[in-house]
Amino acid sequence: MSGAHPSAAPASVLSVRGLHVRFRMRGGRQVAAVRDASFDLAPGECLALVGESGCGKSVLASALLGLLPGNAQTAGSAIAGGIELIGADERTLARRVRGRRIGLIPQSPAAHLTPVRTVGAHLEETLRALTGIRRREARRAAVAAAERAAFPADLLDRYPHELSGGLAQRAATALALVGDAPLLLADEPTTGLDRDLVHRTADELRRHTDDGRALLMITHDLAAAQRIADRVAVMYAGRIVEIADADAFFGAPGPRHPYARRLLAALPERDFTPIPGLPPELGDLPEGCAFAPRCDRATDTCATTLPAFAAGLSCHHPAAPPAEPPRA
Ligand SMILES: Nc1ncnc2c1ncn2[C@@H]1O[C@H](COP(=O)(O)OP(=O)(O)OP(=O)(O)O)[C@@H](O)[C@H]1O
Ligand code: SF4
Ligand SMILES: [Mg+2]
Repeated sequence: MSGAHPSAAPASVLSVRGLHVRFRMRGGRQVAAVRDASFDLAPGECLALVGESGCGKSVLASALLGLLPGNAQTAGSAIAGGIELIGADERTLARRVRGRRIGLIPQSPAAHLTPVRTVGAHLEETLRALTGIRRREARRAAVAAAERAAFPADLLDRYPHELSGGLAQRAATALALVGDAPLLLADEPTTGLDRDLVHRTADELRRHTDDGRALLMITHDLAAAQRIADRVAVMYAGRIVEIADADAFFGAPGPRHPYARRLLAALPERDFTPIPGLPPELGDLPEGCAFAPRCDRATDTCATTLPAFAAGLSCHHPAAPPAEPPRA
């Protein structure tokens, strides 16, 4: 898909409109992994994308980079740097998008590293390809890049199979940062790290963003999201159900969507109350709101009518909006 994007905010680093991803399965079954996702990312902004396992977060990121498997079908639009990403040809994605326009910290970093190359060789090669620096300078630049992601310089000669999960994570972060892409997609960038390194990595990603780049951080770690995100997008069963300012989301008045409220309440440092029931199968979604069987605010309308996404919410009966400040 290509062409003009009528409602894109002019200053957006990324503008996603009506993005759908479906997987065709054997026997004609379809899995609706992303449904009608729309959001913008401004320069200098960090948007945290959160939601239970299997809700479609990684599929959304893969769709933006053209990394979906052959049984995927996409629709909608996603524009970054004037390039329509959805349906773009492989040559455009490889030459102009991946690493240059959009950096990726993948969810399974070890699987994305070439087994026969050391971490240092990965970094040097990426630096030379993206920045054009000479071989002699590449080693010094690789050491500096490793340092930014807290990857120990004395381990640069290790091969991927010699890395722990946490070290592979830091290597992937170093690699994603070297291209200085205007947009970074970080899929669970703090997995396998201890709390200190979580903070250090999150802060480095924030610094990267503060220089005018944008960050989409997919995470289960709501504490890391609270630390660095400007806005939070909550996904449930393939749909973004709420996008909110991070201060209002984590503080007062809190989220407005019943699922988002339960997600926060489930945290050990909050109510520690698990959300009852399980998310639906994405191959067998109900007609109305997918959260209805688990929702204590559900009515008959919820079960039959899918709530539209409007003003940052997809819900027929959200929690009350923040109180208006008293008039002078
Ligand atoms: N190639 C595929 N074929 C069919 N279904 C797929 C395929 N890849 C992913 N899915 C399905 O798409 C849905 C969304 O998966 P996704 O990996 O995006 O979840 P996620 O939100 O990233 O979960 P997690 O938090 O565990 O990483 C899941 O139900 C998954 O089973
Ligand atoms: S639409 Fe209804 S069922 Fe869905 S989250 Fe809102 S109140 Fe609950
Ligand atoms: Mg994922």
